[in-house]
Formats: sequence, structure tokens, C-alpha cells
Amino acid sequence: MPERSLEAKAAAESRLVLHQLMLPEHANAHGNVHGGVILRMVDEAGAICAMRHTRRPCVTIAVDSMTFRQPVHLGELLICTAQVSWVGRSSIEVSIDLHSENPITGAISHTNSAYVVYVALGKDGRPEAATPLLLATDEDRARFAAGAERQARRIAQR
Ligand SMILES: CC(C)(COP(=O)(O)OP(=O)(O)OC[C@H]1O[C@@H](n2cnc3c(N)ncnc32)[C@H](O)[C@@H]1OP(=O)(O)O)[C@@H](O)C(=O)NCCC(=O)NCCS
Repeated sequence: MPERSLEAKAAAESRLVLHQLMLPEHANAHGNVHGGVILRMVDEAGAICAMRHTRRPCVTIAVDSMTFRQPVHLGELLICTAQVSWVGRSSIEVSIDLHSENPITGAISHTNSAYVVYVALGKDGRPEAATPLLLATDEDRARFAAGAERQARRIAQR
């Protein structure tokens, strides 16, 4: 694994947006997009974001509850936006927002939001210090404080 600096890094550096066209292979028995497809995309986007942030392999340790408020339809684009919201020592919380877009009409709906926590691993496969998150604005600091509270609740419920 390459050496890396532990200098704090802005969330914007690892933020990513994945787009995927929903096709028949993504359908459930009702003809809409299968929830598992959405969960997989959430976890993939979150893992890529965490690894880009810390430049280390990252594994999923916790997925907060997710609510499916409305169906995603075949033929729509599923758009997954992932951004690091909090970093502990080895743990990294990623905030993920999902939207569906009708590529013909341009109509966009917010479908889900999720928080997923990843752990950065060292060469020995054990948790290793993650790159700290740079907090440059009040918004960054507020997002980080909210993430710290969520993480404290997760640890208390463990
Ligand atoms: C990730 C793993 C190596 C961590 O090992 P561990 O012995 O539990 O490590 P620790 O207890 O030191 O916890 C590591 C970090 O996870 C955090 N953590 C532990 N349980 C957690 C939970 N339920 N929710 C959120 N964070 C949690 C700890 O607070 C710690 O964070 P910190 O370093 O920022 O303080 C181990 O749990 C594992 O291999 N899990 C399976 C991962 C996996 O297969 N994921 C699915 C496929 S990617």
C-alpha cells in the first residue's frame, strides 16, 4: 500500500456522484427497482467515497436504517451522491443521498438518504487511523457534530 499523509482533507475531495440507468435486470416482482439494488449502490458509493478520503481499503461496519418512501421506476436514472460527514480514529461516516431522474422529462425525486460507517484497514487487516476531515466552514463543523452524535448513539446501541 502506498504511504499517505494524515493531513486533514476536505470532504469535497472525495465526494462522488454515481449514475446508473435502471433496467429490467434491476426489477423486483412488482416491476419497480429492487430495494437490494438501491442498497448495493448506496454501499458501493459510500465505500468508494471512504477509500478516496483515506486512500486505504475500507469495510462497512454499520448501515443506519433506510426508509423507501417511493418506488424507483425502470428507465429512470438512479443518482447516488456520497460525501464524508464525520471521521473518528479509524471510522468514517459517509452521508448518501439518492435521487431518481426521468431522463426524458428531467423530473428528479429524492428517494432515500442514508448514513453508512466504514473502517479504514491497515496492511494487517486491522483498523488503522483514517485521514482527518478538514472542517473549514460552519456548515462542515455542524455536519461533523451531527455525525459525532450519530456515532455515539451507534456505539451506545452496539
Ligand atoms: C471492521 C473490523 C475490522 C473492525 O474490527 P473491530 O475489532 O471491531 O475494531 P474496533 O472495535 O477497534 O472498531 C473499529 C472502529 O469501528 C467503530 N465501530 C465499531 N462498531 C461500530 C458500530 N456498530 N457502528 C459504528 N462504528 C462502529 C469503532 O468505534 C472504531 O472506530 P474508531 O477507530 O473511529 O474509534 C471488523 O469488525 C470486521 O472485519 N468487520 C466485518 C466488515 C465486513 O465484512 N463488512 C462487510 C463487507 S465490506
